[in-house]
Amino acid sequence: MRCPEVSSAAHPSYSKRGCGNSEMSYKLYQLGYKNIVNVDYSEVVIQKMAEKYSEMEGMTWQTMDMYHLDFPEESFDCVLEKCTFEVLFCKEKSPWETSSETVDNFNKVLHQVENVLRPGGQLVSISFTQPHFRLPLLRQSLPDWAFEYKTFGDMFHYFVYIGSKGKS
Ligand SMILES: C[S@@+](CC[C@H](N)C(=O)[O-])C[C@H]1O[C@@H](n2cnc3c(N)ncnc32)[C@H](O)[C@@H]1O
Repeated sequence: MRCPEVSSAAHPSYSKRGCGNSEMSYKLYQLGYKNIVNVDYSEVVIQKMAEKYSEMEGMTWQTMDMYHLDFPEESFDCVLEKCTFEVLFCKEKSPWETSSETVDNFNKVLHQVENVLRPGGQLVSISFTQPHFRLPLLRQSLPDWAFEYKTFGDMFHYFVYIGSKGKS
């Protein structure tokens, strides 16, 4: 998977939200994306992943809450998340009716992402949530952005949402 608009940059920098113990950053690193900052709010998982991938120069691991991203403004070309936004929606009973509290929380997290992305930078969000439910919330929170999505899988689909900052 590529973030098309940043892949040509000399040293594109990526940040991965709620990395968990997924191998995705390792695989991206193998593809040539060497400058990856992984964050998760679990100290245990961050410690384990930092040990496991200690040989990978340029890849860093930080304990951080996605509600309070402690990075300078406009410091990343791409923010990637896989099924981490879903935790915000866990307590909802139905995707047809999202509570205002959850919408506010999603809004807060998305604005943290917006803050750390450079102009034209991209959010790549991988999710099982269907576009019918996810796109309106993304567009409502970030009206100046352009969003597109791609569908993957057979029968049990998942979706990759790509948002470009300030490109509506
Ligand atoms: C469903 S898992 C996804 C993990 C990984 N991205 C993957 O695809 O396997 C959600 C991850 O988000 C992390 N997480 C939940 N709330 C978070 C928050 N507020 N800030 C940062 N990470 C959070 C959890 O610790 C967990 O590792």
